[in-house]
Amino acid sequence: MTPLSAPVPPVPSEVPLGTVAWLRASVARFSNGPDHVRRRALAVDALAPVDVDALQRNAFERTSRIAAGLDVVDVMADIARPVPVGVLAEALGLPDVSADVVPVAAAYHPHVTPDAAAEAALTRLIAACGGPSERTAARIGLLVQACDATAGLIGNELFASLTGKPAGQPVLATRRRIGGEDVSVPLAGTPFGAGPRACPGSRHAVALATGVLEALRGFRLTERETPWVGAPNLRLPAHLWVTRGRAVSGFC
Ligand code: HEM
Repeated sequence: MTPLSAPVPPVPSEVPLGTVAWLRASVARFSNGPDHVRRRALAVDALAPVDVDALQRNAFERTSRIAAGLDVVDVMADIARPVPVGVLAEALGLPDVSADVVPVAAAYHPHVTPDAAAEAALTRLIAACGGPSERTAARIGLLVQACDATAGLIGNELFASLTGKPAGQPVLATRRRIGGEDVSVPLAGTPFGAGPRACPGSRHAVALATGVLEALRGFRLTERETPWVGAPNLRLPAHLWVTRGRAVSGFC
């Protein structure tokens, strides 16, 4: 058995309905065995009818619209999260719930204690997705999984293309329970994971990122330094300021 096909560290299952803890306990990402197989199938089935070319086109159009109204764009806050999540939500037949997905994504992983804003955002998301059920959790799970990871893909590729530095992968490692211990398993060289839990949204993520990056062609870094997210298993800009104007970074 490869480390990536080992079980994930389990999350508590006796949790209040409709909370962030309930979301974790109801999605494929933190499930094992038959629960994982069934919940993963719900996510894969929800993604199956989505037209990836339309995702790319819509991401291009939304990004162009947002960027047209701004002199300086913080790609991470203004575009890299709301555009992919909004476009994917629309493709899943949902309203643009991106403003609620962002705080839930920040509270999704089990080491984070969700704040009241994340819980309130999840309550609205559950209502928008049809009430608390495994199917609803699967749809919210897709949007939440897409949020920071696709933002990382966009931020890293854009930073690399503007600086000539290599683009790192956004998700550097994941967790597994091996020999009774919770361990970090590196994802070097497999940015979308591998095995039975490999990312089911990789084609969708690449299409969304491609549409966004096409729309940002011709933009340049500003003179503000790019800060990076300070989590050991993630590598993505916290902010990435670009402008349509003359290059001022010295890189371009
Ligand atoms: C449209 C965008 C995306 C969607 C809908 C999506 C969806 C998902 C879902 C539902 C899972 C859980 C699969 C399971 O547990 O069986 C997953 C896992 C994963 N995703 Fe994505 N994802 C997206 C973008 C990305 C991006 C951009 C990356 C990184 C470049 C990424 C990397 C991963 C990795 C590494 C895993 C596996 C984690 C592990 O094995 O522990 N995803 N994704």
